[in-house]
Amino acid sequence: MTDRLKQLEERRAEARLGGGADRIAKQHAKGKLTARERIDLLLDEGSFEEMGMFVRHQSHDFSLEKTRPYGDGVVTGYGTIKGRTVYVFSQDFTVFGGSLGQAHAQKIVRLMKLAMDNGAPVIGLNDSGGARIQEGVVSLGGYADIFLLNTLASGVVPQISAILGPCAGGAVYSPAITDFVYMVRNTSFMFVTGPDVVKTVTHEDVSFEDLGGAETHATKSGVAHMACDSDAECLLRIRELFDFIPQNCEDPPPAGRSDDPVDRRIPELDHVVPENPNKPYDMRDVIRRIVDDGRFYEIHAEYAENLLVGFAHIGRRSVGIVANNPAVLAGVLDVNSSIKGARFVRFCDAFNIPLVVFEDVPGFMPGTDQEWRGIIRHGAKLLYAFSEATVPKITVITRKAYGGAYDVMNSKHILADVNLAWPSAEIAVMGPKGAVEIIYRRTIDQAEDPEATENRIIEEYKEKFANPYVAAEYGYIDDIIIPSNTRVRLVRALDMLRHKVATLPRKKHGNIPL
Ligand code: HXC
Repeated sequence: MTDRLKQLEERRAEARLGGGADRIAKQHAKGKLTARERIDLLLDEGSFEEMGMFVRHQSHDFSLEKTRPYGDGVVTGYGTIKGRTVYVFSQDFTVFGGSLGQAHAQKIVRLMKLAMDNGAPVIGLNDSGGARIQEGVVSLGGYADIFLLNTLASGVVPQISAILGPCAGGAVYSPAITDFVYMVRNTSFMFVTGPDVVKTVTHEDVSFEDLGGAETHATKSGVAHMACDSDAECLLRIRELFDFIPQNCEDPPPAGRSDDPVDRRIPELDHVVPENPNKPYDMRDVIRRIVDDGRFYEIHAEYAENLLVGFAHIGRRSVGIVANNPAVLAGVLDVNSSIKGARFVRFCDAFNIPLVVFEDVPGFMPGTDQEWRGIIRHGAKLLYAFSEATVPKITVITRKAYGGAYDVMNSKHILADVNLAWPSAEIAVMGPKGAVEIIYRRTIDQAEDPEATENRIIEEYKEKFANPYVAAEYGYIDDIIIPSNTRVRLVRALDMLRHKVATLPRKKHGNIPL
């Protein structure tokens, strides 16, 4: 027995060494951790149970049979984050460059099936040269098997991807289907074709980082939800996400542990909206003051910053926050912010996370750029996502709620449960100046003093429409509240809605305007 134990230990040690000490040193020299070091940082200490440690490929092409490392370039298994079970795969760049062959793919597929059967999230730590060239079409089949499971698991269990090295070609489509993509600056990249192919086809000279680095995807393309400075920071941020998201689509999200008083009043909020309606303020300041301990876990923070999305706890209840940010482009809704908001709303709805909306929106962005890029179709995504969401839905209108954007931003008309407005709210078809110039153009033109007449009519319009009272008369607003009481009111509304059950008409699936 002692010999057998010794043999087991030797084989385990060999597996743990991956591609060997030299390649591990190379990995470290690039500022990257190894597949196993990453798992250690991601999971609770000592909680990892590895599965498939001794799996090896069965390929004989290109002399591959001479090199059959244990694990086949991916470490798979389960463990806990803050005591909750998660499934993890971590690609090992030191083995065949983390490339994906048949055995490698099967390990990931088995893990994902287990995660779906047992209702726990899957976290993929990606660091791979892509399809294993020597295994040919079998590798492509392996990717397709994973894409399929990503799709089937979507909305069943949360799926999170960290890109911690290369992720190129068709390989990018697995993370792209998952719910959240984290990247690391300067060491990770994602693209469909690399700089060399780009140069040949489009004659553009572009670096890896500019083409598909973390900054690019977190700010320009929106492919990445978060850009981090190191592997360690990235893994820590993923751990933090688990404070807000549930295990699966049947479970409630985790409760917060804060002692922040539920009846905390926030006097500063009574003065946060400037007297001048054209003056910006940062909606993050409003959100942070309201949520438990000021902790707002923002997603997509650097992308389409005119709309903020992220998680928080309010009175210890996990919520998904969607908020116009008047500090950027006056909080207008455009193509990118609509897409960003819609995807976040759908995640929250799929995983039972109540939605809290803070609204200050002058409307949809006008112009040829937006129209030609399809603001109609993309804006409709946000409308669709809010309309079909059946989780508790609450809106607080802090200032502007104009035009179609009023309807879209979680209005009562599309089945929001509770809509509250601050006294500074302006709810109307359009802003006073635009409205007056359209409906009183002739009166103004024919007046003796057109400017004075226009100003007088604008004042009358403001008095009549640029306030929350007309909407409240129709019952479109449930109450007009004192801003400093917003936290208390939200805590109570969330508590009131905690057992909400709403269903949609029977259908195979809807047809969101993609
Ligand atoms: C087999 C691979 C590999 C691959 C890398 N390696 N990529 N082995 N198949 N796809 C191996 C290398 O031979 C090398 O082995 C080790 O991994 C490290 O690679 P290096 O090139 O030395 O590392 P580095 O300089 O850091 O460059 C990393 C890289 C580069 C940028 C990823 O290796 C590269 O361009 N690889 C090819 C990427 C690619 O074109 N993949 C196919 C994409 S198409 P040794 O033994 O020397 O350590 C695709 C389609 C998916 O993935 C389809 C889904 C539908």
